Amino acid sequence: MKTHTLLMPLDMHLHLRDGIMLENIAPLSAFSFSGAVVMPNLVPPITTLEEVKAYKQRIIAAVPNDYFEPYMTLFYKNYSKAFLKSVVEEIIAIKLYPAGITTNSEGGVSSFDIEEMRPTLEAMSELNIPLCVHGETDGFVMDREAEFMSIYELLATSFPNLKIIMEHITTKAAVDMLDKHDNLYATITVHHLLFTLDDVVGGMMMPHNFCKPIAKRPEDLDALLSVALEAHPKVMFGSDSAPHPQDKKENCGCAAGVFSAPIALQLLCEIFEQYDRLDNLQAFVSDNAQNIYGICPEFKEVILEKRPFVIPNIYANVVPMYAEQALNWAIADIE
Ligand code: DOR
Ligand code: ZN
Repeated sequence: MKTHTLLMPLDMHLHLRDGIMLENIAPLSAFSFSGAVVMPNLVPPITTLEEVKAYKQRIIAAVPNDYFEPYMTLFYKNYSKAFLKSVVEEIIAIKLYPAGITTNSEGGVSSFDIEEMRPTLEAMSELNIPLCVHGETDGFVMDREAEFMSIYELLATSFPNLKIIMEHITTKAAVDMLDKHDNLYATITVHHLLFTLDDVVGGMMMPHNFCKPIAKRPEDLDALLSVALEAHPKVMFGSDSAPHPQDKKENCGCAAGVFSAPIALQLLCEIFEQYDRLDNLQAFVSDNAQNIYGICPEFKEVILEKRPFVIPNIYANVVPMYAEQALNWAIADIE
């Protein structure tokens, strides 16, 4: 049987939530990944040292083994340098959301006034704290990410020593930005390597494929695939797996978020095999992230087998992407 081994797979953008949801879904990521960058958009968002530490403890308590490292983030505000110094050892990055742009982002940034942000972003540069950005404007939904490119340029040129991660990129415009500035990097989800807008609203409306940023055009998908499949050294896998209870998705006001964590590695194997690039998957799911963030996860080996795997229709109360569909790859063993 054909197998493929991945070492220390990392999910560089993950929503783990809190409470019962955390307890239900964190073990699924901990099973197949070595670690994950955990998003801070709880209600209220994570903004203090105490909250980061306590949330990390709740995550550790929710996972059944020690092979999973939660890399913690803070929700961006204009923090003082003294505060950042006090928290630097506890976090891997700070996540910036434009106010109101997506789930639980109401307390985000409402204007990109560089002078107002300068003290924080300079302190982050000095302390080597990366800035992760949800890059969307409040423009027309299909143009939001492309419109945000001028803000990425402004941030990248104003703070040349700040590592800026363009999170969950969905457009050719973002792919084209990658090589324009040394300090810009990106994460890409697995669903954005598979979906265009057609998979969300092209036929019947598919609530479980709906997320922010929304999947775009075929040419955008091609651009994302090209950098992911070559494992461009500035891109990393980040699932943006974002669980919502079934009744919040199958609802007249469907919440944004695709739940992919338990099937992400299997799907990535399928995509990379389809394009004959399985050799590059290790860099995309781990090595690039280790280099970009300077992290060194504990040893973990995930062996995938080429055999049919039918995705469950539900995990606890969360419907996964591609529910009940069959994949060609399954996780066989973890060491
Ligand atoms: O679709 C999304 N869901 N996009 C985000 O940026 C946030 C996420 C969530 O937290 O549900
Ligand atoms: Zn996210």
